Amino acid sequence: MRIITPSSVLRDWNLHDAGSLTKHANNPRIAASMRDAFPFPYTLDNANRFIRMATASNTNLFLAIEIDGEAVGGIGIHPLDDVKHRTAEIGYWLSESFWGHGIVTDAVRSLVPVAFERYDIVRLQAGIFSNNPSSMRVLEKCGFFKEAIHKNAITKNGVLLDEVMYVRFG
Ligand SMILES: CC(C)(COP(=O)(O)OP(=O)(O)OC[C@H]1O[C@@H](n2cnc3c(N)ncnc32)[C@H](O)[C@@H]1OP(=O)(O)O)[C@@H](O)C(=O)NCCC(=O)NCCS
Repeated sequence: MRIITPSSVLRDWNLHDAGSLTKHANNPRIAASMRDAFPFPYTLDNANRFIRMATASNTNLFLAIEIDGEAVGGIGIHPLDDVKHRTAEIGYWLSESFWGHGIVTDAVRSLVPVAFERYDIVRLQAGIFSNNPSSMRVLEKCGFFKEAIHKNAITKNGVLLDEVMYVRFG
């Protein structure tokens, strides 16, 4: 898949991205806002394993955010299962050197219609850690609204946080 946004290209990962993925993902400020599966330090081995998993998955959608030919971030859609099979989650991260230029806002805006087209979903959600206002802002700019606050739902790096649930229904 290849999606052109105003500020980047969203495209499939491939093993040639392992070096740039390691370089850009290896940042404690990024890992702090992600699930623990996104580690710090982020090694070349982590990158290779992620790319192998991402390219093998036929349920989840994992795309690289490419700028000037280099993978500098990631965005993905993860459909839930069982009684939640008409819900999907959206997740993303971007290299710190590119923060604040609207790049992830453009990426989310471009990917949302694709997610609703590709999956039989009625709900696209993201659970944001309560100490991450910039990610909440991204979602608000993309038509998501704050639905709920799940108190004490997250323990990240030993710190208890709330999870702020954002949602879009189409
Ligand atoms: C969150 C993240 C994806 C944002 O990407 P980005 O491309 O910099 O985002 P954008 O530039 O599109 O938008 C960021 C918005 O947050 C705002 N913002 C930045 N810091 C902020 C703060 N401390 N408080 C409130 N808003 C803030 C920016 O001003 C901007 O809003 P604006 O356009 O209204 O001014 C990026 O910072 C990142 O990768 N962080 C680490 C990983 C992460 O948090 N992933 C999401 C997990 S849910």
